[in-house]
Amino acid sequence: TRIGILISGRGSNAMAILRAVQEGRLPGCEIAVVISNIAGAGGIEAARGAGVPAVALESKGRSRAEHEQAVTALLEKFRVDLVCLAGYMRLLSAEFTQRWGSRMLNIHPSLLPAFAGLHAQRQALEYGAQVTGCTVHFVNEVMDGGVIVLQRTCEILPEDTEDTLSARVLREEHQAYVEAIARVVSGEYEVVGRRYLKSEG
Ligand code: GRF
Repeated sequence: TRIGILISGRGSNAMAILRAVQEGRLPGCEIAVVISNIAGAGGIEAARGAGVPAVALESKGRSRAEHEQAVTALLEKFRVDLVCLAGYMRLLSAEFTQRWGSRMLNIHPSLLPAFAGLHAQRQALEYGAQVTGCTVHFVNEVMDGGVIVLQRTCEILPEDTEDTLSARVLREEHQAYVEAIARVVSGEYEVVGRRYLKSEG
């Protein structure tokens, strides 16, 4: 499975996936390309440093359709069969999600459907939740709305700030993304309604 990772920032989830591939924890997988929509994203240098092709395709100053066409062209050029959004801060059009959705995952730093959208960790803290976590899900045209592949939980502690909570959630994210990819590429699971279940036999 050739994985393409889309990022906008530091790319720690991308690096966690890359490390898992390099350590043989995702057999049959390779990282084909890392694409950032922000030119200076830290994740680009990190990926290149690890020997993975990384490309900045700036979305700024381009229409959504133009940018998405460029992303699709690059994903096809690198023969990507699974797209992983990892801190990719762009909304995707219905056209793009329909094209890639069954082969595209996202990670969100909360237990969906709670706290969708931006600043999920801050939302959880301000709401007074005592448990939160992260969700890896397929991507459909509803933001943070696709079928859930896997969730991991963590506690919210009384002394938490947005930063300390985000760091705790992030550790779960790194494990969750790798486990979710392993599930998806195993071929042993199927979507049943909204549920992602182990296939029988
Ligand atoms: C993660 O918390 C991810 O869930 C969120 O953005 C953050 C990206 O972090 N959507 P990184 O770039 O993978 O380090």
